[in-house]
Amino acid sequence: MRLPMATPSGWRREGNLPAELTSFVGRTRLLANLKRHLGESRLVTVTGIGGVGKSRTVLRFAHQVRAQYADGVWFADLARLQDAGMVKHTIASALGIADQSSRAASETLSEWVADRQMLLIIDTCEHLVQGCAELVEELLNSNPNLKVLATSRQSLHLPYEHVVPVPPLQVPGDDPAESLFTNESVQLFAARAGAVVPDFVLDEHNIGTVAELCRRLDGIPLALELAAVRLRALSVEQILGLLTDRFSLLAGASRTALPRHQTLRAAIGWSHELCDPAERLLWARLSVFAGDFELDAARAVCSDEQLPADRITDLVTGLVEKSVLLITSNHAGVRYKLIDTLAEYGEEWLDKLGQRERMRHKHLEYYLSLARRSEDAWSGPRQIYWFIRMRQEHDNVRVALEHALRTPSETPLALTLLSSLWFMWVCCGFAREGRLYLERALAANPGASKERCKALWVLSYVRSAQGDSVGALEAAEQCSTEAVRVGDSKAVILASKMQGTAALLQGDLQKASALLGVAIEFNTDNKELNPGLLPAIVELSMVLSSQGELYEAESLLKDCLQVCMERGELFVSSYAHWALSLPRLAGGRPGEALKNAQESLRIKRHFHDTLGILIALETTARIYVALDEVDLATRLLGALQQNWRTAGLPQLGAPFLTVEHEKCVKECERALGVERYQRLFEAGMRLDLEEASTMALGEEEL
Ligand SMILES: Nc1ncnc2c1ncn2[C@@H]1O[C@H](COP(=O)(O)OP(=O)(O)OP(=O)(O)O)[C@@H](O)[C@H]1O
Ligand SMILES: [Mg+2]
Repeated sequence: MRLPMATPSGWRREGNLPAELTSFVGRTRLLANLKRHLGESRLVTVTGIGGVGKSRTVLRFAHQVRAQYADGVWFADLARLQDAGMVKHTIASALGIADQSSRAASETLSEWVADRQMLLIIDTCEHLVQGCAELVEELLNSNPNLKVLATSRQSLHLPYEHVVPVPPLQVPGDDPAESLFTNESVQLFAARAGAVVPDFVLDEHNIGTVAELCRRLDGIPLALELAAVRLRALSVEQILGLLTDRFSLLAGASRTALPRHQTLRAAIGWSHELCDPAERLLWARLSVFAGDFELDAARAVCSDEQLPADRITDLVTGLVEKSVLLITSNHAGVRYKLIDTLAEYGEEWLDKLGQRERMRHKHLEYYLSLARRSEDAWSGPRQIYWFIRMRQEHDNVRVALEHALRTPSETPLALTLLSSLWFMWVCCGFAREGRLYLERALAANPGASKERCKALWVLSYVRSAQGDSVGALEAAEQCSTEAVRVGDSKAVILASKMQGTAALLQGDLQKASALLGVAIEFNTDNKELNPGLLPAIVELSMVLSSQGELYEAESLLKDCLQVCMERGELFVSSYAHWALSLPRLAGGRPGEALKNAQESLRIKRHFHDTLGILIALETTARIYVALDEVDLATRLLGALQQNWRTAGLPQLGAPFLTVEHEKCVKECERALGVERYQRLFEAGMRLDLEEASTMALGEEEL
């Protein structure tokens, strides 16, 4: 089956650097300085006022040095994050780490970066300095090769930190020997002017005025960009004239220059005035989004009787034209983003208007409806689309959840949002984050309700995905008790399914078989295949395979795969393919088993299913032993050992995996002798999950 390319950002060795969307000007010395400091210290923090070019310079630098880091350059943006507790999760998800184990987040993060040769960029730390400093320290301690480059309006206050201030761009006159034409500020203004008015050229006639304008704007890149937008309607002289009037007003009519951050505020304020009232209102309202957003989201969240929905498209276009909004297109479509400093300005404005809480509520409602849509669609043919989509919305989901958990009247909605997104926590590699939020939301909503029952079985599912069978059982039992109390029969059945899953993890096959059987038999609503029916069938087949009932296991799985195919369900089908390899391997048909395990791996590559890939690789190693390819099996064992470390408990601590794993290790050792075994095992340990999958699939380039 051919699937669209859908590997999410991260996960790949080269890193996840965003593209540079506009031309870059100057900064040769600063870039060289950064290089030198990063050679001398493992932590460099780039500081400077808002809009001065910290993020942009660091991004340029990152693109320049990308090739020098074998394990890539990674970019995590903390700009709109409010909760210091989420720094680790945000960085982990930027790195594409499956956040799956039940251990502390930073422990997994530390292990993932452990011996990688990589540069981690943490953009915008000033509002979370303490949390960032602690995490950076932990990461640097655990990996001697790691380098961290942070941007922040203030330093992280770590003793070994090198602080590199970003000054504004050179303004004309700073260096008397320099030609006005090659000055950095002038060049930036001219580059942006050319984008606004295509036939704009710098010449002897306008250079003096442009130079004066750049001086007035103190060489602050954001201010220069905002002023250039004005060329659509005004000449350079007119812009200079208006700015001069405005600044002298602000500086109390004296001719002394304004402090730089005031210059920027004034430049932003001036852009703000350029907007019509509706654009200004939209600008303020858009500040509730975290990171980027779609037009639809802007329309749903920001419109009301004051700002009709059918005007939003034009208003967004207006804000793009004024350089307030950036367009960040990618393969999933067009998205928009407010430049940081401008988002803050919008937020202040929104506060002044007294609309912040209402907008946050609408933002939460929008993501709630999106979550419901995604849950309904999850088991269908658009599963991969929803997988990518919800990953893209992750920052917004986080912000919506934080708001809901902070605001007493909204906490019930946190439960609903979290539960609808069960597939995101379980199937997309964010188990730990989901667990943390679910536990918080359950504590905040102690009264029995259907919403709570759902959150409880989701919590059980999430804990199972972490290999925490005891915790999973506890949540499922609680769900069962409360569901009986509130008369929620659907939750009773799902609780039974989750108890069955936990029993399977604990190796109690009889109990698992009984509970999963109940979940399958009483699954009355056949429309809903996940997360009850189909996973229960796959798990029951595992029990049957373990009990030697190979024929029954196989026929259950064939039916399951048939349903998956009819519905376009892929995620569970990847497990069903894997599970099918078990009776086939046990029945002495390793060739067929290999095909099943490989099909499973091929599908799993499209999701961020680290856990599933590890489980499938465990079986693949055993299959290769049966096929007499012991070298390959041994290298896979090495890769597995290394990669389980970051995913959580090795083999999930589940007997159905550990017993077979041990057997496989012994067989390989016996066949190869200790020395050869060790050599191949160590070679395998150097493989990341992607490389190990490639090898298991026989796609390795020789
Ligand atoms: N050297 C440069 N060449 C071209 N454009 C630049 C340069 N430096 C900054 N810019 C542009 O100026 C604007 C502001 O820069 P940037 O976002 O990097 O500022 P910042 O210091 O990170 O601000 P904040 O504190 O708000 O995060 C951006 O649109 C950026 O692309
Ligand atoms: Mg920035």
